[in-house]
Amino acid sequence: MGEVNEMIDIGGAKLKNPFMSASGCFGYGREFAQIMDLQTLGAIVVKGVSLDPWLGNKGVRVAETPSGMLNAIGLENPGLDYFLENHLPFLLQKDLSVVVNIVGKTLEEYVEVARRLNDTSVSALEINISCPNVAEGGIAFGTSPEKAYEIISSIRKVTELPLWVKLSPNVTDIVEIAKAVEAAGADALTLINTLTGMVIDIETGKPLLGNLTGGLSGPAIKPIAVRMVYQVASEVNIPIVGVGGITSLNDALEFFMAGASAVQIGSALFRDPLLLERLPKELERYLIEKNTTLEQIIGLARRSV
Ligand SMILES: Cc1cc2nc3c(=O)[nH]c(=O)nc-3n(C[C@H](O)[C@H](O)[C@H](O)COP(=O)(O)O)c2cc1C
Repeated sequence: MGEVNEMIDIGGAKLKNPFMSASGCFGYGREFAQIMDLQTLGAIVVKGVSLDPWLGNKGVRVAETPSGMLNAIGLENPGLDYFLENHLPFLLQKDLSVVVNIVGKTLEEYVEVARRLNDTSVSALEINISCPNVAEGGIAFGTSPEKAYEIISSIRKVTELPLWVKLSPNVTDIVEIAKAVEAAGADALTLINTLTGMVIDIETGKPLLGNLTGGLSGPAIKPIAVRMVYQVASEVNIPIVGVGGITSLNDALEFFMAGASAVQIGSALFRDPLLLERLPKELERYLIEKNTTLEQIIGLARRSV
């Protein structure tokens, strides 16, 4: 694949280029559509959608940290009906691949959301079994290989859409979870969600975030994400979407070389909202300059040791 803008296939989902928004950092695209051309995205990955509307967590929800941020939004979202009636038609009228991130409190909720999206023309479902900021569901399914297998095989039965599974770094062995979801029928893996952290407000002596803990994202987590992509890519046969701390093309190149076939950008968009518009052009220039292709770069670090 010499041209960056040739179609890329991630587990059956077609992307215009390997750069996507990370769920929760791009909303449903409406605000970004006012400042950039959404068609320059490889795909939009929307904020997590649940069956019913969720209000999210109370209190302080975000905190800045050295080289990153903590968030404890608690998956606030307007619910599936609203998403289907309002956000999805807005996105599908653009020439844009849409990946729907799904979350639920129970296995049945995940399955129902996936079943109802099966009749739409979204490009893929990204199953979030890794959110650390909700009391029920989310990460509870993503920290045990048995539970991860059970939920993904149940979702697999109700949808033919490409199924990406977003994994948590808050585990002892991410490879065993990755293998379990691959065996359950996942078409691709997204690595990684945020790492659980805490900030104390020294004036009050209490945890700053209303949820007490939050998910750490941004440059601070990049080496962990790159390590996990590298480890998992060596053990599974499905494509990997890398995410965690990417702020530049050089960061993205590390993920490609570790074995990711595409990448997502999250926290960096809060500081540099047009980053996703620039990256495809920057990658194209890089490939020409180095006289190489994206295919040759993917997994390079694993082939060279
Ligand atoms: C404010 C915020 C909200 C997020 N919401 C979601 C979400 O709804 N679903 C999900 O799977 N990940 C969510 N994430 C995690 C990101 O998609 C991403 O995996 C993580 O932030 C690491 O990437 P980054 O360092 O580029 O931000 C959220 C992250 C942030 C910072």
